[in-house]
Amino acid sequence: MQGDLGAGKTTFVRHLLRALGITGRIKSPTYAVVEPHEAPDGLAIFHFDFYRFSDPREWEDAGFRDIFAGPGVKVAEWPENAAGRIPLADLAIKIEAMTDDTRTVTLRANTERGARLLAAA
Ligand SMILES: Nc1ncnc2c1ncn2[C@@H]1O[C@H](COP(=O)(O)OP(=O)(O)OP(=O)(O)O)[C@@H](O)[C@H]1O
Ligand SMILES: [Mg+2]
Repeated sequence: MQGDLGAGKTTFVRHLLRALGITGRIKSPTYAVVEPHEAPDGLAIFHFDFYRFSDPREWEDAGFRDIFAGPGVKVAEWPENAAGRIPLADLAIKIEAMTDDTRTVTLRANTERGARLLAAA
């Protein structure tokens, strides 16, 4: 998910999590890098924020490789900070702030799965 500081990435993920049935407080992963969630139907959703990610060893040490290889939805803010490690997104989401209260969101499918997601949206 791409977008400048304050574009609305975290807000988008919060709404996505709510839409998937997550209730209660939704923590932001800025300090933890990843915040795991589980939907009522058992679907795992991993919310990453790579804003402060800089140590490449953390990718292995924190188990991010395993998370991306495993099941569930992975949604990432600042994926460019993990370039070269993070796999190609099925769906690239770009958010641009137009005014204080309007946003333009662009979705681009990079894979077959992404294309199916777009078609279903
Ligand atoms: N679609 C929207 N319409 C109007 N305001 C929005 C929208 N999305 C987010 N905002 C507002 O923009 C501000 C920043 O949003 P948010 O924290 O989600 O941005 P972010 O892209 O995650 O920023 P960062 O890069 O710092 O993580 C918040 O005040 C939020 O309420
Ligand atoms: Mg954010």
